[in-house]
Amino acid sequence: MSRKYIIANWKMNMSLSEALQWLKDVEENFPEGVDGAVCPPFVYIRDLVKEARKLKVGAQNVSWAEKGAYTGEVAAYMLKDVGADLVIIGHSERRKYFNETNQDISKKITLAVKNGLEVVLCVGETLEQRQAGKVEEVVRTQLREGLDGVPPETWEKLTIAYEPVWAIGTGVPCKPEDAIKVIEFIRAELKDIAGNKGKGIRVLYGGSIKPDNFEEFLKVGVDGGLVGGASLKADSFIQLLRLGAKYSS
Ligand code: 13P
Repeated sequence: MSRKYIIANWKMNMSLSEALQWLKDVEENFPEGVDGAVCPPFVYIRDLVKEARKLKVGAQNVSWAEKGAYTGEVAAYMLKDVGADLVIIGHSERRKYFNETNQDISKKITLAVKNGLEVVLCVGETLEQRQAGKVEEVVRTQLREGLDGVPPETWEKLTIAYEPVWAIGTGVPCKPEDAIKVIEFIRAELKDIAGNKGKGIRVLYGGSIKPDNFEEFLKVGVDGGLVGGASLKADSFIQLLRLGAKYSS
């Protein structure tokens, strides 16, 4: 897959009016030949779906339960029902602050794909794990346990985001040559688990991406970016989309 994919993860930011203005600006300047998505907080999804023509719209999380007495949760079928295209699952902030396990994550992915949503599965190591030489072990476990039980025929709905935890929101990105090593490892693992079905899955990088460093990642062969801070301003997200378009074919 040579079309790059750039995804804005707004996390818990933006007001409704800021969200709509951002969407208008990005849609008006959306370059040809690249895939883009925005994942706002749940409450803005429906408003953005109504206005979006070029960007996909997604959620940042979904419940592992199908439906029922789970106060505060949002089900996969509800996301589909309001027009969401995708969902981010297993973000390190959810693993850290909300104790999400790989077992929760595999249930979430299974339900999301069953309901026709695309899934962006996030994996990545902490600084301690990197220093202990455990990057591959950690990422392998997150992939294998997270994808356990996910039907192979739905794998075309998957994107993986490699997000080293220590690079998220710190302003210090992973070195592109280190990121691509892990991304190549992820590609090999996917091929090993799912054979040819794993081949076309895009593997993105995330962690302190900015317009002035993203090109270095594209040059080494990442399939796109999952972007937090630098996605909040329409201008910088547009710049990232343009870079993505430049490296797409
Ligand atoms: P930053 O781009 O703010 O480092 O966040 C990355 C991220 O967590 C995207 O999911």
